[in-house]
Amino acid sequence: MKEKLLSYLVCPSCNGALDLSVERVEQNEIMEGALRCRDCAASFPISGGIPRFADLAEVESDKRATAAGFGWQWQHFTQEDARYAEQFLGWITPVRPEFFRGKVVLEGGCGKGRHTQLAAGWGAEDVVGIDLSGAVETAFAATRSLPNAHIIQADIYRLPLARKFDYAFSVGVLHHLPDPRGGFLSLASKVKPGGHISAWIYGAENNEWITRFVNPVRERITSRMDQRVLLQLSKIPAACVYLATKLVYGPLNRNGSSLAQRLFYNDYLSAIAPFGWREQHTIVFDHLVAPTAFYISRGEFADWWRELGASDVAISWHNSNSWCGFGQVK
Ligand SMILES: C[S@@+](CC[C@H](N)C(=O)[O-])C[C@H]1O[C@@H](n2cnc3c(N)ncnc32)[C@H](O)[C@@H]1O
Ligand SMILES: [Zn+2]
Repeated sequence: MKEKLLSYLVCPSCNGALDLSVERVEQNEIMEGALRCRDCAASFPISGGIPRFADLAEVESDKRATAAGFGWQWQHFTQEDARYAEQFLGWITPVRPEFFRGKVVLEGGCGKGRHTQLAAGWGAEDVVGIDLSGAVETAFAATRSLPNAHIIQADIYRLPLARKFDYAFSVGVLHHLPDPRGGFLSLASKVKPGGHISAWIYGAENNEWITRFVNPVRERITSRMDQRVLLQLSKIPAACVYLATKLVYGPLNRNGSSLAQRLFYNDYLSAIAPFGWREQHTIVFDHLVAPTAFYISRGEFADWWRELGASDVAISWHNSNSWCGFGQVK
């Protein structure tokens, strides 16, 4: 933990100020120590360089199961890919890299930290990535050399943060929460009045094949499996996706063939076609590992923004299977 992070932290129980005690420092990172609340005496350890505001042994069982799957995923699939920047910009449309310059940014559910890294590189004043799972270990390793990047282990519903953020974003996280709307509103509560928020979620529309046929398998079988077994098993559907995208979707779309538009799920599969085997395997594994996944309609998503009282809301349809939202917080 970099000492600068302290200026954004508050006690998640009572919003009190936190006192920092340092036990071991390594190259400007506080590796071991503690944060203690001045008001309610709650105490949170800093270990392995990460402030720990959530204890996985104590969170609700559904959240713990989600964190177990994703924690394993992001500590296994630690690869980087040059295409992440373009993909990220697609998810947070209409935001562009210049938007990050000088802003204090919060990421809800940072996973392995790939977007924390990008936001920091695009000139954010500071970017704070929070995640409930063991993915924070990978995110910390990926961002520790960046002076403006910070990683926290915390539950999105109990953020240990002051309302000091110019911009918050969350990519692929809210639909995995037990109450997606509640997670969205919790994240938004940390954005300063007049600041902005982006969220990308799975859509209900055009995903009936997933909700009817894939969800029962995911809920009853794959999300309950040992992740090492799922890693091997998921190579079968991943190989089908890989062959289809490399041999059919990629070439037909590149050649501008009119056939492409008639292919099943073309907008999404052509978007992931340029990725290599490991990234496509990650995507397939990601879809099978989560015990909780909601597919959310445009109408429901629009209600979240209304409830927030956000202005200038832009909701866009992404790859014909998901929703991107961007708006200004009151
Ligand atoms: C599909 S991953 C997306 C990660 C990252 N946003 C990305 O796109 O690479 C979902 C992430 O949400 C995190 N997550 C799930 N429930 C959470 C919660 N209650 N609080 C914070 N993070 C949570 C998971 O641990 C996981 O890293
Ligand atoms: Zn407190």
